[in-house]
Amino acid sequence: MKIVVIGTGYVGLPHAAVLSEYGHEVYAYDIDATRIAAYQTGEADDIERYVNEPGLADIVAENLNRYLFFTTDISDVIEGADVFFFCTNTPPNRDGSTDMTNYLAAANHLAGLLAARRNKQRVVLVNKSTVPIGTARLLEEVMQEQGVENFGVASNPEFLAQGSAVEGSRRPDRIVIGADTLEDMQILRRLYSQFVNHVRIRYLETTPETAEAIKYMSNTLLLTYISFWNGVGARLAEALPNIRMEDLKIGVTSDARISTWGSYVSNGAGGSCFGKDIQSLIYQLNRAGRSTDLLQAVYGINEYQKTYLIDRAIHEARFSFNQKTVALLGLSFKKRTNDMRDSAALRVVESLLARGVRAIRAYDPLAMEEAQRNWFNPEKNHLFERITYHETAVEAIRGTDALYISTDWEEFRGLARTIQTTVKAPYLVIDGRRMLPDFDMLVAAGYDYLPVGGALLQGRAGGDRLPSENGHEIGKPAPVAR
Ligand code: UDX
Repeated sequence: MKIVVIGTGYVGLPHAAVLSEYGHEVYAYDIDATRIAAYQTGEADDIERYVNEPGLADIVAENLNRYLFFTTDISDVIEGADVFFFCTNTPPNRDGSTDMTNYLAAANHLAGLLAARRNKQRVVLVNKSTVPIGTARLLEEVMQEQGVENFGVASNPEFLAQGSAVEGSRRPDRIVIGADTLEDMQILRRLYSQFVNHVRIRYLETTPETAEAIKYMSNTLLLTYISFWNGVGARLAEALPNIRMEDLKIGVTSDARISTWGSYVSNGAGGSCFGKDIQSLIYQLNRAGRSTDLLQAVYGINEYQKTYLIDRAIHEARFSFNQKTVALLGLSFKKRTNDMRDSAALRVVESLLARGVRAIRAYDPLAMEEAQRNWFNPEKNHLFERITYHETAVEAIRGTDALYISTDWEEFRGLARTIQTTVKAPYLVIDGRRMLPDFDMLVAAGYDYLPVGGALLQGRAGGDRLPSENGHEIGKPAPVAR
């Protein structure tokens, strides 16, 4: 394939070089003529003056003028190109925003040339440098404004670390492609054919915006993790006697869950341990005179998360809970237990009652006895009289105005159909566990769906409706009193 790489710094040069190793015809373009002249010598000293990465100069020398070409005139190379990579530098502005001057200059320059090209074959324009979320869309607009035809935009972020950029390009842990059309995905699959279906490399195809977000999330997660070690692990070993830093590291990092576990977004983590343990550690570190900013922020974020969806329901869905009846599905802090200690449901109930709900119709496969006995005793708080308990989810949902899913019980996954056959739209479904795979069916039938980790989806009135289980048309009131 014919590839053009725009920008030949720490991102562009290793990328261009490694692509040329795989037999692509790669044109590496830069506006800096002295830099390009240095690369064109093929000499390690000249190349490393600009980008010093182990193994890079050898690849450049090997492929120079065979598969890898350097140029300061992009107009010479655009005809017949399949893919353009933007690898320009994107320095920070003082306010934290990204300086897009170089990127936009390159994009506008390319747009003018592409609009005038003779060969109108499909081209994919790919952002490789880290650029703000939404930049692929911005690039699309730049191209459209100048009348470019038959192009697609994509995001394919680099995850290279300096010092191992060549190794990282040859053996990445993942390739993330964000594109809008199958055609563009297929062009990029051809480009990265050595990584597609690789047994060890994750090849992820998603939207441009998701790919852009993955890059920022990845870097900030790594920095958060480093800060956890510097701000908590190191503090502990510094402040308290007889803690061995190296052993602390081994003991903590051996937890096999440190990976995908935790990425299941929820309405807050509960249980008997997390909350109590983090508060205790904050106390112990504070007593030793050490700062606990990160831990306090973590505790605060988790607590806030427990009622955040109710705030979103009010502000985004414009739902007023006052005098409404709400079904609460799930009381325990997680599935397969009746334990309610620190459960998000406790905070949800508190928040719903404070907002004046008329009734809460609760259902949990295991925890209802526990709830009545130990948590929502009307003798302790008369408002708990507003909670009733029901034998099934469908019973709890009957006659309600909204539904809140608080626990990840597997049986809730089938609720989309139950909701449609039990209550009529308009109706708000708040999903604190992302339990409804069929949410689009609900939305098409007019129900509003507000999930954690997703935008509010407002019901499309007049959409397809399922026939109800009892033969009544959906949309008629359920035959049950509140
Ligand atoms: C936890 C620790 O995992 C365990 O190591 C410790 O010894 C005791 O505390 P447990 O309380 O049983 O164990 O709960 P866990 O399975 O860890 O879940 C805690 C909370 O996090 C639950 O509310 C769970 O639903 C939530 N969670 C978990 C998420 O919200 N997202 C996830 O991805 C994982």
